[in-house]
Amino acid sequence: MATTPRPGSVGLIIREKDPVNLETPLDQVDSYVTPLELFYVRSHFQAPKLEPSSYELRIDGAVRSPFFLTYERLRAMPSETRVATLECAGNSRVFLSPQVAGVQWGLGAVGNAEWTGVPLRTLLERAGLEEDACEIVLEGADRGTPKEPPLPPGPIPYARSLPRDKAIRPEVLIAYKMNDRDLPIDHGYPVRAIVPGHFGMASVKWLTRIHAVREPFRGYWQTSDYAYWADLDGQSVRRALGAMKPKSEIARPRVYETLAADRVYTVCGMAWSGETEITEVAVSTDGGRTWTQAEFVDPVRRHAWRRWKLDWLTPREPGRHILLARAKDANGGVQPDTHGRQYGSYVVDHTLPIEVFVEDPAISPRESV
Ligand code: MTE
Repeated sequence: MATTPRPGSVGLIIREKDPVNLETPLDQVDSYVTPLELFYVRSHFQAPKLEPSSYELRIDGAVRSPFFLTYERLRAMPSETRVATLECAGNSRVFLSPQVAGVQWGLGAVGNAEWTGVPLRTLLERAGLEEDACEIVLEGADRGTPKEPPLPPGPIPYARSLPRDKAIRPEVLIAYKMNDRDLPIDHGYPVRAIVPGHFGMASVKWLTRIHAVREPFRGYWQTSDYAYWADLDGQSVRRALGAMKPKSEIARPRVYETLAADRVYTVCGMAWSGETEITEVAVSTDGGRTWTQAEFVDPVRRHAWRRWKLDWLTPREPGRHILLARAKDANGGVQPDTHGRQYGSYVVDHTLPIEVFVEDPAISPRESV
């Protein structure tokens, strides 16, 4: 299933130079597993240079026997390989109107890869997790000053906590391979966490510390950033983002693509959800008035995306059309029509309009709309 780099890769879309933030050209992804060279990169600070020879992963805090592992020792432990989709919580932000602050991601801050590593729970069992440990903080070696206020008084590491229940699930990996290759530097070399089902921010790269805590962790990346407003008995409270929502994206055609009139065009894309399976994708080619079920290309696999497709006979008349895709999941979750304001500039999970032109070669529809 792993892919090898393809000669003549089409590259990534630059969204930010420093730190490097690169988007996948989703229309170029035609495989189940996203090739390494097409996988989006989302980093808040410059990638730290960690040497495998001096690398240490500390496991400490609310545990009976804290310990550390070298890179070699970690790789010698029994490993597991799992396919999981990572979607950045800010994916598709460019679709929000009016525009909001943050990296202007289009459709491609999402990818599906094969990850190899040691289950986090194996490490927590070995350390002897205390009964009263409620969360596990994962800390990366990268550090700096965040961009959005309220700013902490000095540079901070990228760190995020996982609820205990999720941290001990078998799917959470301390990974050192991606698509059967050592992790690339931008994706967290030498070691990162992979939290299948959660938005990408949970999968901490350049991981150097696993710290069990007895009080909920209130770090920057889950209170100020990567948080939302939840309703608690009529009160708005700040909560950390966690599991992904059901979402489907149209990879082809692209926004503003021109299609030939009266021809069969195969509309295709991907759909994924957090802690359950995608059961249905419906597509509209008339701006949401009518919907047709798409066909799945991939089988159901928890935590991994499913590609889908639908053959569309384009109209004879030239014109502008709005395509939409809507996913449903096994828990009854359905993509909404509009963005949930409680999520601010994150969780852009509503049906995303893809505008295309059907063209009669003799007349340009852009002139006629
Ligand atoms: N881990 C560290 N240490 N620093 C980061 O900036 N970014 C997070 C997460 N892990 C980040 C991190 C975010 S927001 C996302 S979406 C994913 O990494 C992206 O992983 P990728 O760059 O391998 O695609």
